[in-house]
Amino acid sequence: MITHELKTPLVPIQEYADMLLSEHLGKLTKLQKERISIIKSSSESSSSMISDLLDAQKLELRQLTIKKSNENIKNTIEKAIRILKPASDKKNVKISSNEVDLLINHDSERITQVITNLIKNSLTAVEPDSGKIEVIVDSLPTEIKINVKDNGSGIPEGKQGNLFKKFYQVDASLTRERGGSGLGLAICKGIIEHHGGQISVHSVENQGSTFSFTISKESDEQVKSPLNSA
Ligand SMILES: Nc1ncnc2c1ncn2[C@@H]1O[C@H](COP(=O)(O)OP(=O)(O)OP(=O)(O)O)[C@@H](O)[C@H]1O
Ligand SMILES: [Mg+2]
Repeated sequence: MITHELKTPLVPIQEYADMLLSEHLGKLTKLQKERISIIKSSSESSSSMISDLLDAQKLELRQLTIKKSNENIKNTIEKAIRILKPASDKKNVKISSNEVDLLINHDSERITQVITNLIKNSLTAVEPDSGKIEVIVDSLPTEIKINVKDNGSGIPEGKQGNLFKKFYQVDASLTRERGGSGLGLAICKGIIEHHGGQISVHSVENQGSTFSFTISKESDEQVKSPLNSA
């Protein structure tokens, strides 16, 4: 409840920041625009951190609902890449994908959230200009494997075991510089496990990381036994 209530006052902050930025209430100077943009992006960060806390809490209480439907996985991946386009452009980093067209029974919004979280982490790990991020779909006999691969800092082997735990960060001192709460990967794991899949990491320090997760190719109808569907 409290986590939910924390979001409510952020709504008018964001709406009024938008209204001011649109200059419907009067023309702004460059400096005023800049400062209001900071108000807007700070409240957006707060809001997304609170959403992460809410999701983590729901996962813990097993209350996270997954709304699956047969949708093209390509659209889900493209949505995530589109969301992060401004951030990747800012760093001059290219995000590519192998654009596999496949109907997969999944919660598109939640899987977009997973891919967005993984790409965000990769964007933090790569260098500007030389950074490269790829989203590669492997079509296996009974499942698909989605890999988010980067050529960033990599993760020391000894620290890889804790990555999917809540609030874990490899270098906590960086948190104060760049934000983040260490919930992203724990939420990814929860969402993937709610889909019946698995998430894993392969990473080499100073070379890069690949985070991979699976989703079954079977639709729920196929999984149901004939007795249940009668
Ligand atoms: N692609 C990656 N390359 C290098 N390190 C990574 C990568 N992905 C995750 N990590 C490390 O794993 C830690 C945990 O990631 P996680 O997404 O759970 O939290 P966060 O990104 O720090 O915060 P949040 O996602 O909640 O904003 C990160 O702090 C980072 O140290
Ligand atoms: Mg993260």
